[in-house]
Amino acid sequence: MDKQSFTVADARKLDIDDPLAAFRDRFHLPPGKDGNPQIYFCGHSLGLQPKTTAQLVAEELADWQRLGVEGHFRSRHPWMPYHRFLTEHTAELVGALPTEVVNMNSLTVNLHLMMVSFYRPRGERRKLLIEKGAFPSDRYAAESQLLFHGLDPATELIEIAPRDGEYTLRDEDLLRVIDEQGAEIALVMLPGVQYYTGQVFDMAAITEAAHKKGCLAGFDLAHTAGNIPLQLHDWGVDFAAWCSYKYLNGGPGSVAGCFVHERHASDRELPRFAGWWGHDQDSRFEMGPEFKAMPGAEGWQLSNPPILALAPVLASLEIFHEAGMARLREKSLSLTALMAKLLHERLGDRLEILTPDNPQQRGCQLSIRLTAQRDDRESRREVFDALAANDVICDWREPDVIRAAPVPLYNSHEDVWRFVERLEECL
Ligand SMILES: Cc1ncc(COP(=O)(O)O)c(C=O)c1O
Repeated sequence: MDKQSFTVADARKLDIDDPLAAFRDRFHLPPGKDGNPQIYFCGHSLGLQPKTTAQLVAEELADWQRLGVEGHFRSRHPWMPYHRFLTEHTAELVGALPTEVVNMNSLTVNLHLMMVSFYRPRGERRKLLIEKGAFPSDRYAAESQLLFHGLDPATELIEIAPRDGEYTLRDEDLLRVIDEQGAEIALVMLPGVQYYTGQVFDMAAITEAAHKKGCLAGFDLAHTAGNIPLQLHDWGVDFAAWCSYKYLNGGPGSVAGCFVHERHASDRELPRFAGWWGHDQDSRFEMGPEFKAMPGAEGWQLSNPPILALAPVLASLEIFHEAGMARLREKSLSLTALMAKLLHERLGDRLEILTPDNPQQRGCQLSIRLTAQRDDRESRREVFDALAANDVICDWREPDVIRAAPVPLYNSHEDVWRFVERLEECL
């Protein structure tokens, strides 16, 4: 295909036909040097700020000024039940029952809390299965849980890797390990979408395979929530946790999400690290010494929630509810397919895409490795820096990967076209 056979006018036409195009105006797009918005493809790292966020935070600040402690009951959004204002939309986003989700803490904290309850090594069943290239925090968390149980990570932590020469894990390899070693595995803990390659894992099949062997299955959904549609309840996932600052646009370090399947949610016998906000709400303020877990995911809460940090998550969830994950996914598939096509056609001899070709195995993100400067990391890094200097914001993952994510809520097909154009210029 001729290089110019898909033009910026074609991209604009797709945007005119895009039913979600108006959502772009609901976000603050950082301005570039020429005053036009940057091409912001970094939603996999930090999502952009909805325009409603400042108002929701300001309301809570104002109510605190006006009401002091009374704000717990008398503010416009009373703080006592504030976290529940997020529940319905959170459940909808991840395909859960409202009682199965809660917004609390941060991601790594939630993964630890979940492992305390769901990684229970006993007898021959002691192993924890993760992936070899796991996000460092997940690996640290998993390893430290093993050590906490007095186990040796060298023998009890299974780290499954892609085959030699391949970037992504094959489903069949993963399922075979679970099948072969399942009797010794206590917990399978994997990402929904892999942070480095953007690969989507088959969460339903993994959960089914794990359960068949008597293991539990939990997922880190940092790169998954708000990126692809989820059915955590129907898939039978035991637990999941996610941050809300990436695709969920909740702001830097914002409050994370957590899912506990209903089959566990009322199991008060499950060991857990407890705090007063997870205690039965009817008797919480009796201030008794004995912990009685609240049923549902809320029973894992520790502290009273940070209202000022929940308000931005609420602002964002309202937008997700309005746009709907099914429509967002449809647009995301279109943006990512266009990006892959233009990259292959215009720059195919100078880069490779690590992310799977199969649209069902990827979300918004494409992970790109520049190949023309194969042995020269510095010059590859220079290309990335030149992109940033030209107002194209992606991120760089050592040793040599550019992660770019066109996000359906605020990116356009024109953004995609311009990204490829500028990358070509920078190369
Ligand atoms: C896949 C994954 N897991 C865990 C984390 C750690 O998140 P937090 O710092 O919110 O605990 C991140 C952060 O980017 C991540 O991408």
